[in-house]
Amino acid sequence: MDNRDASPGPDREGRETWHRAQELLARMTPAEKAGQLTQLFYFPQTAAKGEAAVRSGEAGALLFVADPAETNRLQRIAVEETRLGIPLLFGFDVIHGFRTIFPVPLAMAASWDPDIIKRAQSIAAKEARAVGIHWAFAPMVDIARDPRWGRMIEGAGEDPFLGSAVAAAHVRGFQGDDPADADRVISGPKHFAGYGAAMGGRDYDEANISDSELWNVYLPPFEAAVKAGCGNIMAAYMDLNGIPATGNRWLLSEVLRNTWDFQGFVVSDANSVRDLETHGFARNQEDAATRALWAGIDMEMVFMDPAYTTLPQSLGDGQISEGVLDTSVLRILETKINMGLFENPYVDESRSTEVLEASPHREVAREAAERSMVLLRNEGNVLPLDDAQLASIALIGPFADDPREIIGPWSFDFRNDETVTILDGIRHRAGNGIDVRYAPGIRRAHRVFPSMFDAFPGQEPDRQPDFDDDGEFRKAIDLATSSDVAVVVLGEWQNMIGEDASRASMTLPGRQTELLQAVVETGTPVVLLLMNGRPLDITWANDRVPAILDIWYPGSQGGHAVANILFGDVAPGGKLPFTWPRSMNQVPLISSHTRSHQPEKQGERYWDEPSTPLFPFGYGLSYSPFAYRNIRITPDTIHSGTTATVSVEVTNTGARTADDVAQMYIHQRFGSASRPIRELKGFQRVTLEAGERRTVTFTLGPDQLRYWNAAVRDWVIDEAEFDLWIGSDSTASLQTTFSTAR
Ligand code: GLC
Repeated sequence: MDNRDASPGPDREGRETWHRAQELLARMTPAEKAGQLTQLFYFPQTAAKGEAAVRSGEAGALLFVADPAETNRLQRIAVEETRLGIPLLFGFDVIHGFRTIFPVPLAMAASWDPDIIKRAQSIAAKEARAVGIHWAFAPMVDIARDPRWGRMIEGAGEDPFLGSAVAAAHVRGFQGDDPADADRVISGPKHFAGYGAAMGGRDYDEANISDSELWNVYLPPFEAAVKAGCGNIMAAYMDLNGIPATGNRWLLSEVLRNTWDFQGFVVSDANSVRDLETHGFARNQEDAATRALWAGIDMEMVFMDPAYTTLPQSLGDGQISEGVLDTSVLRILETKINMGLFENPYVDESRSTEVLEASPHREVAREAAERSMVLLRNEGNVLPLDDAQLASIALIGPFADDPREIIGPWSFDFRNDETVTILDGIRHRAGNGIDVRYAPGIRRAHRVFPSMFDAFPGQEPDRQPDFDDDGEFRKAIDLATSSDVAVVVLGEWQNMIGEDASRASMTLPGRQTELLQAVVETGTPVVLLLMNGRPLDITWANDRVPAILDIWYPGSQGGHAVANILFGDVAPGGKLPFTWPRSMNQVPLISSHTRSHQPEKQGERYWDEPSTPLFPFGYGLSYSPFAYRNIRITPDTIHSGTTATVSVEVTNTGARTADDVAQMYIHQRFGSASRPIRELKGFQRVTLEAGERRTVTFTLGPDQLRYWNAAVRDWVIDEAEFDLWIGSDSTASLQTTFSTAR
């Protein structure tokens, strides 16, 4: 094994933490060093081994411990029973909340509101830290453009500009400004890098990505997270262009360290170091460990039998240098020192309950849910519902009163009795004047094979042995027939989306379409609510259901948020973070494609169905129309190194307060590469009162104009002419032009 040192990154000797870490390092044995580079899962069935590993110094970090008494008990073993008393680092998947569950990340991205994302994650951090968790394996910043890939739900969709802004907001929410802040956690953006481009959308499968797409699409959100100061990065499972991301020195050292100057530590994904042998990349576990470490994996996350326990032997055999090992150990020690864990290793157990049950957290969760929902259709202004005109509402569908489904995947410490279902929310908002009755209509559908999460406590899917299919279906139809409006909630069950949840189709699982068609057939006005984490095939509904609202998995307070939007207390202002295909046959389908031969026939690339999306990137309706006018760019020639200011007047021309997201897109007309027909380069969500007009401004400069060019294999800004549009989505028509010059 090549004995070159891993590049330790910039000289850190000026820091006090570095000196403290160096002093501790000098006292450590190779086995203790390997222990600090090992993070073990801590499940009930592995608790004894995990505890023994802590006591023997073979594990310096754990994950999946979420009880304050247990974190303190394990921490006490590390601090008081090991030779050097180095505190443990506790990590957990705090993806969209800990006890207060926020909308799933794709939904929060649909808010196009970095501020609400920051506020939500700062609460998630506070709740997680209150039980002794120091580190969130979040945000997932993988760009996703294939709805078959279930983990699309965990990210920010298809676009690198939106994805970068969202990534930075998550990081700042989790971390705040001070790593020692007792209410913050380390943010660990993942999965570095290119995981969302899995072949065929099949989770864990290889990703083959051109350099141009890597630098212009898949890497920017990670760079934004690094610039925002994330303390950790998690490597990805899959092969990137034939080299496993976990053993990919170009990715983990050349890009992350030497190009972006990342200062934190890198953790593998679960078992992905051991997997280097599975990939056929490493000869054996010793080889896997040394090559992962050398590539830049500082810490191995593993269920059991860490590969990193072989490192002391490899050191003795000269397979790795002391420098490579020490570089990674120092990063872990500095992280623990910077977090103040040596001074304050324990959590205040009496405080955790108070923090976890703080009602202001619920308010932010409701607000985040309201701001994430996307109104896709509202023919005849069926919405908002007028409670003065309604005597009865039929709430129909298997998701409408299920506290587990509404909070979506990657939720663990939830409480069903704290979760507001859609039925709860609508009944609460409707009051006694409206009769709100519920019928599931159909039983839940099931995957062909179980989800890896089905085995977790409280996650076992109900097989509904006593469900009366015909009776329940008939009951739902009768209810719709006898009601003033039918609110139908459809989508995917939460174990059908997320990790280990790739899917070959976009159809609504089970008998949902049949149920929807039968409800529409009754002639009662229908409002369709979608509970989803990726685009679904709703072409039938889009032609026949007048109102469609995408509520995503809106979290603990989702029921209140849904009701507030249905009754118009809040106007929907979310926008799609992805292009919504008509069917899987069109995938991949994005809005930022380049022009090609016969661009006027872009919608006719297939002879058997349109090649246009059902909804474009950035799309979303409101309860009030908005007008855009007076677009200006000053100066209209941008010289290298300078910036221009772009402004536009946005007016709420409707009769009520509402939100819109002003989106700025550019197109480079010519240059040293073909450039996308529309690239998002700025956005601002605005709340305007009826009739209110506001001037919104954007900056356009080198950061927005540069792109990585495959011809010169470097970043360039061409001298060229550009179109620029601003409007409510990626089809915006208000246009101006500008040029760039030396
Ligand atoms: C999983 C996921 C990763 C998660 C980790 C710990 O396999 O890929 O996103 O953070 O393991 O649960």
